[in-house]
Amino acid sequence: MTIDDFSGALDMPLPQSLLLRALRTVTQGLVITDAAQTIIFVNAAFTAVTGYGEAELLGRNCRMLQGPGSDPEVVRLIRLRLTKGETFRGQILNYRKDGTSFWHELSISPVREDDGVISHFISVQRDVTAQVLAPANLPFPSVIPQRPAPEERSPDYREGLLSGRLRMHMQPVVDLRTGATHFVEALARLELEDGTLISPGAFLPLLTESDVALLFRQALEQVLGQIAEWDAAGLSLDASINLAPSTLSEPECARWVADALKRHGIAPTRLSIELLETEVLHDRVQLETFAALGALGVAMAMDDLGSGHSGLRRLLKLPFHAVKVDVAIVAQLRNRPVPTLGMLTTLIQMGHDQGWDIIIEGLEDEALTEVAAILGASYGQGYFLCPPVPARDIPGWVTQSHRVPDSGLVRTPLGSLAYHWTFHRTQKQHTTSYETCPITDLLVEHGDQIAVKLHRQQHHLVPGSAASSGDLLAWLIQWSRVDG
Ligand SMILES: Cc1cc2nc3c(=O)[nH]c(=O)nc-3n(C[C@H](O)[C@H](O)[C@H](O)COP(=O)(O)O)c2cc1C
Repeated sequence: MTIDDFSGALDMPLPQSLLLRALRTVTQGLVITDAAQTIIFVNAAFTAVTGYGEAELLGRNCRMLQGPGSDPEVVRLIRLRLTKGETFRGQILNYRKDGTSFWHELSISPVREDDGVISHFISVQRDVTAQVLAPANLPFPSVIPQRPAPEERSPDYREGLLSGRLRMHMQPVVDLRTGATHFVEALARLELEDGTLISPGAFLPLLTESDVALLFRQALEQVLGQIAEWDAAGLSLDASINLAPSTLSEPECARWVADALKRHGIAPTRLSIELLETEVLHDRVQLETFAALGALGVAMAMDDLGSGHSGLRRLLKLPFHAVKVDVAIVAQLRNRPVPTLGMLTTLIQMGHDQGWDIIIEGLEDEALTEVAAILGASYGQGYFLCPPVPARDIPGWVTQSHRVPDSGLVRTPLGSLAYHWTFHRTQKQHTTSYETCPITDLLVEHGDQIAVKLHRQQHHLVPGSAASSGDLLAWLIQWSRVDG
């Protein structure tokens, strides 16, 4: 879809050419993306502020403007708001093409079709550096971190890695049935001298393949050392670590892993290796290394199924033990709930059939976590359960008990939609009694009379149950959309 299609879809009596000229020339920066946040339109004010040309921006995601000083919490908030279909308003430190930084004020809103489905996002933005840095707003003298120009960045990060500034953060993968920690995923962070933490998304593309392999070996050392330390303290935890496909081309890769496991006295079955979706597997050595790692007894997992090169063909080709479902699939539960429920159910079923552990990523709030549990997913990962934290915070977290969705009591509209859908798809009536049905309390307390009646029909308490299943589904879709 192009901007011309987009403006054509607006129901306005203005000539399109005028509309386009107006959008192009307003003094505030303007960005329009498609629903997947790919930029399809930028105006002149936006290119002037960022220093990038239109051709360099189209087809990309605005996160390209972020860098070391961009607050990850703000990025997370943007993601959360947009995933829920809400407007984000706020300020974030961004970087121009030349590496200099500026404070960007954003107001990003979803654009919906008539049926409520998000088709695009539009953002109005401006450079507010002068206001943010006005003396009255500064409690202490502040230096904004500058991002070096792209060609200078790689050596910085490389030097950081070589001089021991790699820090492994950990995020629990949680058993959704019990709340127990299934294992922790180790996530690489590069700590800059000023204490800023850089995520792999920012540094991996800037490293050579041998740097990435070196990073893997360092990460492996730290993770296995950490497991051994926890063991010594009486805490038995397994861990996973990410592996780039290019590192599988290193003929020594399986030996590095075997040696490291031996050195730290850790059983291979306590380590999982998550194969990233970032590149194709293009040579025989990669397949041999994959098989050699599996033969060691290490669990091989596919990371981010549904994203990049983590597709169904790779899943068929390689003997994985576990599959992680990409956040982008779960995020669609808000926009297109019914097909997404169908897809997740099929993936979970496929996991059962093949003996794969299916791990649902991106469980950012209670509703998404509840849906994963209702659909029968065994394992989940996401901010609602626990964000990535420094390794030292993990023992405190895993030894506390954590609330997981209670199968007997649904608490969110999206959860009640998922619950009813599991019956609707097989044309069955709700099986428990009305009084003990997990969605009764929520509908009685927060639904309306129509919903309660439709629900009672699912329990044969009033006539008309077969037809009303679809009506209840439609009602719940609308309700979960308003709630989201
Ligand atoms: C229309 C639109 C404009 C955006 N503009 C910016 C921007 O100027 N600066 C920025 O840092 N993020 C911007 N974002 C946010 C990022 O694209 C992205 O949503 C954010 O980084 C969170 O998602 P992520 O975790 O996938 O990166 C914009 C998003 C949209 C949809």
